[in-house]
Amino acid sequence: MQARSAAERREALVELYREVSACARCPLHQGRTKVVFGAGNADADLMFVGEAPGQQEDLQGLPFVGRAGKLLDQLLGEVGLERVDVFITNVLKSRPPGNRDPEPEEIDACKPYLHKQVELIEPRVICTLGNFATKLLTRSQRGITGVHGRPQVHELGGRAVRVFPIYHPAAALRSTKTLEELREDFRRLSELLEEPPPVPIGAVAPMAAIAVEPAPEPPQINLFD
Ligand code: URA
Repeated sequence: MQARSAAERREALVELYREVSACARCPLHQGRTKVVFGAGNADADLMFVGEAPGQQEDLQGLPFVGRAGKLLDQLLGEVGLERVDVFITNVLKSRPPGNRDPEPEEIDACKPYLHKQVELIEPRVICTLGNFATKLLTRSQRGITGVHGRPQVHELGGRAVRVFPIYHPAAALRSTKTLEELREDFRRLSELLEEPPPVPIGAVAPMAAIAVEPAPEPPQINLFD
């Protein structure tokens, strides 16, 4: 595939925004006030993916503008980042009624939009906030408590990307321990962003890089003792 310039990718993202704004792929479109497409830098190295819009987000059409969003802003600030440096979006682009958990069919209907966003923004690191985003983008049922703070490489949007699962800020608002762990994971972000792009999955390492040392002989199995 031919590389596209940042301006071309941005234009395609605006086109995608128009498409998502009119989306009726699942019943959530009936109850929403505004679609929450996501916001921030269209060429960001760092992307955050939350769960779904809440009441404030639905009213304003912007992600993370409620209490959890204020905490996200604060944590970004503590590591020298602002919203304009990153792109923030959600698994679902429309608010589930009463902020209930996303249903599997809703996630399925919405996920092509998230994949397209990743393809167009080309982030180096994607922070998945909480269980829903983590399970979707790591394609695993392992929950956030077991995997937070451990970067993984996944193929997303046609590229190998580092996925960095962290707690959802709403969970950190309910527990000081979770907040401290989230803070600690945030502190690793600058180091992660400095790492060279991950080797594409399935790529074969050059021969010179493999087996410089002769492989040790396997231990002999004594059949007669
Ligand atoms: N929680 C989310 O997961 N996303 C938002 O946009 C707001 C709160």
